[in-house]
Amino acid sequence: MASRPPFLLLLLFLFALFSLLNPHSRAANLPFHPEDVLPLLPRQLSWPILNALRRPVDLLPTFVGAASPSNGSLAWKGACFYENTAWLEFHNETGGEFGGGTLHIKVKSRGVSIFLMQAGMLGTLQALWDVFPLFSNTGWGEKSNIGFLNKHMGASFEQRPQPWVTNISIDDIHSGDFLAISKIRGRWGGFETLEKWVSGAYAGHTAMCLRDSEGKLWVGESGHDNDQGEDVIAVQPWDEWWEFELNKDDSNPHIALLPLHPDMRAKFNETAAWEYAESMNGKPYGYNNMLFSWIDTIDANYPPPLDAHVVASVMTVWNQMQPAYAANMWNEALNKRLGTEGLDLPDLLVETEMRGSSFAELLTIPEQDDWVYSDGKSASCVAFVLEMYKAAGLFDPISSSVQVTEFTIKDAYSLKFFENNSSRLPKWCNDGDDVELPFCQIRGRYRMELPGYNTMDLYPHMNERCPSLPPKYSRPSDC
Ligand SMILES: *[C@@H]1O[C@H](CO)[C@@H](O)[C@H](O)[C@H]1NC(C)=O
Ligand SMILES: *[C@@H]1O[C@H](CO)[C@@H](O)[C@H](O)[C@H]1NC(C)=O
Ligand SMILES: *[C@@H]1O[C@H](CO)[C@@H](O)[C@H](O)[C@H]1NC(C)=O
Ligand SMILES: *[C@@H]1O[C@H](CO)[C@@H](O)[C@H](O)[C@H]1NC(C)=O
Ligand SMILES: *[C@@H]1O[C@H](CO)[C@@H](O)[C@H](O)[C@H]1NC(C)=O
Ligand SMILES: *[C@@H]1O[C@H](CO)[C@@H](O)[C@H](O)[C@H]1NC(C)=O
Repeated sequence: MASRPPFLLLLLFLFALFSLLNPHSRAANLPFHPEDVLPLLPRQLSWPILNALRRPVDLLPTFVGAASPSNGSLAWKGACFYENTAWLEFHNETGGEFGGGTLHIKVKSRGVSIFLMQAGMLGTLQALWDVFPLFSNTGWGEKSNIGFLNKHMGASFEQRPQPWVTNISIDDIHSGDFLAISKIRGRWGGFETLEKWVSGAYAGHTAMCLRDSEGKLWVGESGHDNDQGEDVIAVQPWDEWWEFELNKDDSNPHIALLPLHPDMRAKFNETAAWEYAESMNGKPYGYNNMLFSWIDTIDANYPPPLDAHVVASVMTVWNQMQPAYAANMWNEALNKRLGTEGLDLPDLLVETEMRGSSFAELLTIPEQDDWVYSDGKSASCVAFVLEMYKAAGLFDPISSSVQVTEFTIKDAYSLKFFENNSSRLPKWCNDGDDVELPFCQIRGRYRMELPGYNTMDLYPHMNERCPSLPPKYSRPSDC
């Protein structure tokens, strides 16, 4: 469970960095000072960064503006002007170790968005993510994560009394019970911190309990690290899963069990849930749809200074550097949105423009649960759990007008699916804690909080058009 691929981390890391280095939000947003990490870096990395930090904006791809195609002088830095396309020009004007680049994207209907990337950026970022404190597997890294979540989301992280691991009796756990997991250390910790911040969720990972016909308890999870180091969908015995979380997971996971409401449990079709789970077992983690569950609106999902331009910029960079991953990550998903096949990112941008749409709009088109990608159906951790709910009938009778791939983790635990009568919670639930939670935290030093837990009724097309802006993440009730 140690790693989602670094490029994904890097994407989010890039997002974070944009925010951290934004001069307007510097004082408010920094969980630490960027210079603090420099001594940790090899000298050849730290020098270019230090130089860049004199003008922090230099490290960002800066959105320069939309140039009119008739004004060739805006295709600067020696590049020729190519009409109807997007391209990244790598250069090495400063003679730095990693070179630099100028990114041109034709996305505006009457011009080109131009981003400048200063020398050194690509290479330093690639090397930096490993030592970035949010990702650091140390007490300091954990503190950075807690500090960040506290500052930007208002998460409180109060320490709870011992025991920090509950002595559970698995007889009290049933099919459909939801596992909300929050990791606060190491790579997963850093990744989840950013994911929580952009989506407003107070948990960063999910799994689901499932009993087989003999009554044995299993855990279905998308994002399980297999023996080859890949992240896959796995259904594994509870004992193995719990043993891993207790003794081998170095991300200091905080885990809560959210028991289903008895009415939902009665509705839950175990056979159908198993059929779906087995059809997905061993498939890769759902890269294709994880980005899109978060982006629902043109401008109300990006914490400043992120916007669709920056997303386009990051995507284009990856498209150039890691074409195979880019195809996996978003090109296929973007093609699905346009109803096209096999278009590369520049062609996608052109096609979007020719239809009179914008890239920002393209990103908001809802994911459809029945889309099949080249590596099969795609399910991120929370999509996998909710697809099992869907198969099991919990979204009936409006199941066909709910796209669960559009749900964030927060949307999932907000569903009014869970036990609401505290006297029916298992006896061991929150054993020893002096604060009564509406769910059962079973591991973790800090008390978990899930604002909005168990409050949201079902409605057709739910969560397809929702804003998610920190720090309040407020949303209309029918988006
Ligand atoms: C073309 O771009 C240059 C440089 O930005 C600017 O000075 C000039 O006014 C522009 N010309 C037109 C016709 O927009
Ligand atoms: C850039 O130029 C310098 C000096 O000419 C060279 O050492 C370096 O390897 C170059 N970097 C790239 C990425 O080409
Ligand atoms: C856990 O609970 C069981 C009964 O449910 C009890 O027999 C066992 O001793 C407990 N273990 C610990 C370590 O407290
Ligand atoms: C549960 O799902 C199975 C498999 O999809 C189906 O055959 C069965 O009829 C369902 N049971 C109920 C009670 O709906
Ligand atoms: C909660 O559950 C208990 C035990 O099943 C039951 O006696 C009580 O009436 C329930 N309370 C409500 C408000 O439903
Ligand atoms: C729990 O939910 C049920 C149905 O969703 C409702 O009838 C009941 O009043 C709720 N009980 C409490 C204690 O909120």
